Amino acid sequence: MSQLYTPIKVGMNTLSNRLVMAPMTRSRAEHDGTPGQLAAEYYSQRASIGLIVAEGTQPSDDAQGYLTTPGIYTDAHVAGWRKITSAVHNKGGHIFIQMMHAGRMSHPDNTPHHRQGVAPSAIAPGAQIFTVEGMQEVPVPRALSREDIRQTIADFRFAARRAIEAGADGVEIHGANAYLIQQFFAPSANTRTDEYGGSIENRARFALEIAAAIVEEIGAERTAIRLSPGSTLWGIDEGEEGPDLYRYLVAELNKLGLTYLHLMDQGNEPLLKDLRKLWSQTLILNRPGRARNLIGSDVSSGLADLEAYGQMVLANPDFTERLKFGAPMNEGDHRTFFGGLGAQGYTDYPYLA
Ligand SMILES: Cc1cc2nc3c(=O)[nH]c(=O)nc-3n(C[C@H](O)[C@H](O)[C@H](O)COP(=O)(O)O)c2cc1C
Repeated sequence: MSQLYTPIKVGMNTLSNRLVMAPMTRSRAEHDGTPGQLAAEYYSQRASIGLIVAEGTQPSDDAQGYLTTPGIYTDAHVAGWRKITSAVHNKGGHIFIQMMHAGRMSHPDNTPHHRQGVAPSAIAPGAQIFTVEGMQEVPVPRALSREDIRQTIADFRFAARRAIEAGADGVEIHGANAYLIQQFFAPSANTRTDEYGGSIENRARFALEIAAAIVEEIGAERTAIRLSPGSTLWGIDEGEEGPDLYRYLVAELNKLGLTYLHLMDQGNEPLLKDLRKLWSQTLILNRPGRARNLIGSDVSSGLADLEAYGQMVLANPDFTERLKFGAPMNEGDHRTFFGGLGAQGYTDYPYLA
């Protein structure tokens, strides 16, 4: 575990340890997508962790899926994020903003323009989503035209530029968890017959074009991606070719020189090992529900360079110190994970005395 506390250079940043705060949506932004009043305090409380990956943040109106998630495309968004990045930097921390397009996992009641969600194909996920009216069925999305795809890539590019203007150390492209980018990977969600559907190369194209556009805009050292190979959330089925798609995708992303690859383990250990071999830059691994006694073992085995944790960091602002000294952890309160504007379950988790 001691290896976790050695510094590591990631892109242009020297991180003080190899622990990462996994991105977590908290749905506490203002209705226009400006990060909420307490967000700077919340993130700066956690700045002793090597790297913070801030919550899924939409690059456009179309990209919003859930209520009161932050955006990073208007001047107000940039001003809000600047307060967060400054607060984290003032405490010696580092922060990437996760760029999330929900695709079909959206609802017209949740977006600023109240339009139908968009996706590779007009196929509903067969899932429910929280809205102002309570839980509702996710409607059938509108299939993106090729022109819409070009615009979506341009939106990502513009938002990445704005994230840097807001003082972020970089952006992490959200290619995981059944949102737009993974919808393109999965034949269950993508039945397109143009160059964005069908073969592995075609299904990976959208992700690669977004990554290339962002690299061109802000540089590879400030661009990262998160993937969850084999995730079956919300109607996602990548089929038998899934592992091969990821081998191809990761090899192609590697050519772009992205600063890190953030993998969310879905239980396919041989694939993780293959992806590790295909990747020459930094690798961050998140293993959902990881037991505390196993923390540090992926770094010591060499499978990962850094390890990411979600709920434990949410509930423990001083996670890094508690882990280091073997102190007990606070339990997260699931009722306050999403929503609300107050401090409860957000900035009021106690530090170790
Ligand atoms: C409240 C909450 C919100 C989350 N939001 C996101 C998100 O915005 N983007 C993302 O990639 N993953 C998200 N996740 C997944 C986490 O990043 C992480 O992968 C997951 O919690 C498993 O790791 P853990 O067991 O250490 O918490 C979220 C998880 C939680 C608990």
